[in-house]
Amino acid sequence: MLPRLPVCILISLPVLLVHGSTADSSKKSPAAAARPPAPLGDPSWALGLRLYQALRSDPSSVNTLLSPLLVASSLGALGEGSAGATASQVQDLLNTPSPAKAGAHAVELLSGALKSFTEANGTSFHVHASSALFSKQAPPVSQAFVKESQARFRLQHQPLGKGDSKADLKQLHGWAKAGLGGLEGQPLAANIQAKAGALILANALSFKGLWEREFSEESTDHRNFLGKKYTKVMMMHRTGLYRHHEDMENMVQVLELPLWGGKASVVLLLPFHVESLARVDKLLSVELLSKWLEKTNITSVIISLPKANITSTLNLQKQLSALGLTDAWDQKMADFSGVSEKSKGKLHLAGVLQWASLELAAQAGNGDLEEENIEKPKMFYADHPFIIFVRDNTTGALLLMGALDHAEGEALHDEL
Ligand SMILES: *[C@@H]1O[C@H](CO)[C@@H](O)[C@H](O)[C@H]1NC(C)=O
Ligand SMILES: *[C@@H]1O[C@H](CO)[C@@H](O)[C@H](O)[C@H]1NC(C)=O
Ligand SMILES: *[C@@H]1O[C@H](CO)[C@@H](O)[C@H](O)[C@H]1NC(C)=O
Ligand SMILES: *[C@@H]1O[C@H](CO)[C@@H](O)[C@H](O)[C@H]1NC(C)=O
Repeated sequence: MLPRLPVCILISLPVLLVHGSTADSSKKSPAAAARPPAPLGDPSWALGLRLYQALRSDPSSVNTLLSPLLVASSLGALGEGSAGATASQVQDLLNTPSPAKAGAHAVELLSGALKSFTEANGTSFHVHASSALFSKQAPPVSQAFVKESQARFRLQHQPLGKGDSKADLKQLHGWAKAGLGGLEGQPLAANIQAKAGALILANALSFKGLWEREFSEESTDHRNFLGKKYTKVMMMHRTGLYRHHEDMENMVQVLELPLWGGKASVVLLLPFHVESLARVDKLLSVELLSKWLEKTNITSVIISLPKANITSTLNLQKQLSALGLTDAWDQKMADFSGVSEKSKGKLHLAGVLQWASLELAAQAGNGDLEEENIEKPKMFYADHPFIIFVRDNTTGALLLMGALDHAEGEALHDEL
């Protein structure tokens, strides 16, 4: 092919110089040239993956979902209002295994990704997303901090009422419901004890992607989903050309489904055989995911996916502590002197909460697309647990990461 396209090769040279090694890139198809940046240098992937694995190390976890971009950007905002060891511990959470893209600071990347993702709302997906920093009987919060974190990280300040912890919880749940666009979030598993001077970071996000190519409603049928419990679910089907990769060694399929308008895509990881996700959860690393995404190649694929919702409500205190965020929770050690000028020793973190919900449905955006030329398709039959990512196309940031271990549906009884 190369000798027939000398002009293209010349034109693409400057791009190649920016994006990486010439030898490598010249072999790629035109579609491969416009790929989002890899997960390796991205703080949302780095933190998201570590949080996901910390959550999943609890064997009782079923249907995990979190927004790495929201938690990372909210923590980034809080980091900007902290000093000393508290600030460096927040910074460490946002460190990436390889240098950040273009040498930018993690918080700048996060702020940019948040903007890109919010702008894609209504094109590639419908999203409701809110972030807030709640404070309980705290010294006055700095207006400069509030303004800055609202503008850069969409983080609002909300004072908690004077009531007891039950009243706080009610306020938090009410806020989450509004943040989820009216969806009733699951209740928090444990109580939140907000003493005077407590700060609580909260994120709420509900997401529904619009496929670039829709799954037709006519071909939706009842099938079995072999999750934690076997259930009967609605399964949707579509055959088309998608970026796909089979990792034979790890026995995992990787599939990328673009969303309408190309502002974001959904990535699925499906073990070859029916199994719990414990094995694949442990395999995951930013390096491996970068490699997998790079190896995906346009392939004919027969896709079957359950219609399902993944929802989860999390308090990430335990996981963040395990990842090195220790001083922030301690009333004596925490230093949030940028949140409130007079706060040294007066403010501490009492919770990092996430309400998240993702809907897998058949719907696509509108528009005519070219016919696809299907040849010898691969099967991607998601009738058993899988891992799901949503990434922003422009920045490569990780909007959502989750696992479907169980799909709601009529219970199936094992037949002997
Ligand atoms: C997707 O991202 C790539 C690189 O980040 C960019 O070249 C392309 O234009 C983007 N597509 C859309 C639809 O935004
Ligand atoms: C996305 O758009 C919908 C509808 O216009 C709106 O209700 C929602 O708040 C938007 N989400 C964000 C995060 O701005
Ligand atoms: C992608 O597929 C094409 C055509 O099937 C093949 O020539 C190419 O080597 C593949 N690339 C990768 C990275 O697997
Ligand atoms: C997922 O949630 C949406 C919104 O609550 C609902 O309309 C839809 O039926 C749910 N889908 C499934 C498969 O339960």
